[in-house]
Amino acid sequence: MRFDLPHLPQIIRPHLATAIAAGGAIFLSLLLAAAPHTVHASSKRVQAVGAAVFHDKGCQHCHGADLTGTDRGPDLSTVGKKWHKGRIEKQIREGGNGMPAFGDVLQPDEIKSLVDYLSAKRKPAHKGIAPKAPAPSVPAKPSDDDSGD
Ligand code: HEC
Repeated sequence: MRFDLPHLPQIIRPHLATAIAAGGAIFLSLLLAAAPHTVHASSKRVQAVGAAVFHDKGCQHCHGADLTGTDRGPDLSTVGKKWHKGRIEKQIREGGNGMPAFGDVLQPDEIKSLVDYLSAKRKPAHKGIAPKAPAPSVPAKPSDDDSGD
């Protein structure tokens, strides 16, 4: 019994690539199909409240309405991947490094909903899905509003 091992990869590789590509597509569509059902309605509702708090209490002022950050605060669109809930909650309560403390400003349930909302943020909003296609950048207009100060 002799196996021609050196030939094996060449035979398998193309099939493997096809299999991975097909499997990936199937997996992705399954994931998309399953997503609405795997998210519990209650946690979804809490996250919706969190999103509202985020918009109402000024978080978006520094972190952006779409969570991608501004010059006043970092991108939070993947914060759930980087930070566990306790760490996110601590940051909201205590602030620091340019972020105000919200521990006395927000109700405990508002903080909880924010933590749930943010900890579910694990995928970049736009970036990363199509890294080769950057969003059309707004051309920097040379002052067409030259009202001076
Ligand atoms: C005045 C601007 C400002 C506001 C308002 C603000 N933040 Fe921040 N936030 C920041 C800055 C600046 C940092 C980075 C702090 C650091 O590097 O330690 C930060 C960091 C964070 C982080 C940690 C993420 C990271 O990667 O460092 C979280 C989570 C966060 N903010 C959530 C919130 C939430 C929720 C609110 C609203 C309740 C909020 N922020 C309001 C400026 C702000």
